[in-house]
Amino acid sequence: MSIFLDCIQKKKVNRPPIWLMRQAGRYLLEYKETRKRAGSFLDLCYNSDLATEVTLQPIEKFGFDAAILFADILLILDALGVKVEFIEGMGPRLETVREMKDINNLFNVEDIHEKLAPVYKTVSMLKNSLPKDVPLIGFAGAPWTLATYLINGKGEAGSITTKKFLLSNPVEFEKIIDILTKATIEYLIMQIKSGADVIKIFDSWAGALNADMVLNYSLKPIKKIVETIKEKHPNIPFIVFPRGVNTTYRNFSQIPDFNVLAIDQFLDRDWVAKEIQPKKLIQGNLDPIFLTLEKNVLLKELNKVINSFSNYPFIFNLGHGITPDAKVDNVKLLVETIRSKNFSQFF
Ligand code: CP3
Repeated sequence: MSIFLDCIQKKKVNRPPIWLMRQAGRYLLEYKETRKRAGSFLDLCYNSDLATEVTLQPIEKFGFDAAILFADILLILDALGVKVEFIEGMGPRLETVREMKDINNLFNVEDIHEKLAPVYKTVSMLKNSLPKDVPLIGFAGAPWTLATYLINGKGEAGSITTKKFLLSNPVEFEKIIDILTKATIEYLIMQIKSGADVIKIFDSWAGALNADMVLNYSLKPIKKIVETIKEKHPNIPFIVFPRGVNTTYRNFSQIPDFNVLAIDQFLDRDWVAKEIQPKKLIQGNLDPIFLTLEKNVLLKELNKVINSFSNYPFIFNLGHGITPDAKVDNVKLLVETIRSKNFSQFF
């Protein structure tokens, strides 16, 4: 029924399924229009009717093979009682939490559901409105990435502030990771109960960690989340995105419960084909910058991605989210090109 789920379940598919990170977003006029009606970005995330509408926009426009819930990884921090704002042109700004008394003051993990109820409602509305062959991806941020926003109050190149914090305050840091892990398990189970077919975990800032830290603070908590959820929901597939972790992608490929590894654009594709694809289904990895450039530049790079990965089935995606300056015609061209190519080597 769904080429995306078939591919994840190792059934035969005749081309790579396609969806794109941030497929609902500011490169679409339709999105900007709905976003204006919603008011703020957070208002959009918590408005189930409008969040459903923007989730569906790219499905209707491009015919992607999967939809991703419209929400944000920072909502769970808002639900834990941390003040979160999105400032136009600057991105998220949060109240910082660093002291044990503030950590202990975070809302009870069980109390997050009231605030997140509109997200669960969006999931069930989407299940009723998506075409039957388009599965819904639910998602959450990984504990490390959430911790960087909680501790530093905003994104920071290299996550230096959070790294210093974890090395100087290991007890507080572990407590933060523990709370975020537990809250994320609760949050994702509710998304699954509301109808999400697949779950993706975004560790967008994992690349700031040294290799041994990646294992301890990125891989370990994600593994805990996935294993705990699979005890109750063994058939829900997980896509894990440890962005920027370089050769430690290999360690992620060794975890049986991770069904798909999302590959960033920084990895050597030949290395991925040799070291990762024999062990794990991958998703990736076109650099989103190519969607902002001339057609021919895009097509050349697209062919490189396809040629590198086509010895095994794979899911086509970008190495990171679409940027607001991506060209709509390029997205159309990309989908058409992949849909019309012959992938006989898959069989
Ligand atoms: O279509 C989709 O992918 C679904 C929706 C989605 C959003 N954010 C919408 C969004 C998803 C899956 C996310 C995940 C997310 N949010 C991540 C992980 C993925 C990644 O990009 O690394 C992170 C780190 C965040 C936190 C976040 N949200 C930042 C840093 C920003 C500001 C940067 C920016 O692009 O403006 C956001 C805002 C945001 N989240 C927008 C969208 C569509 C743009 C906000 C707007 O419309 O004004």
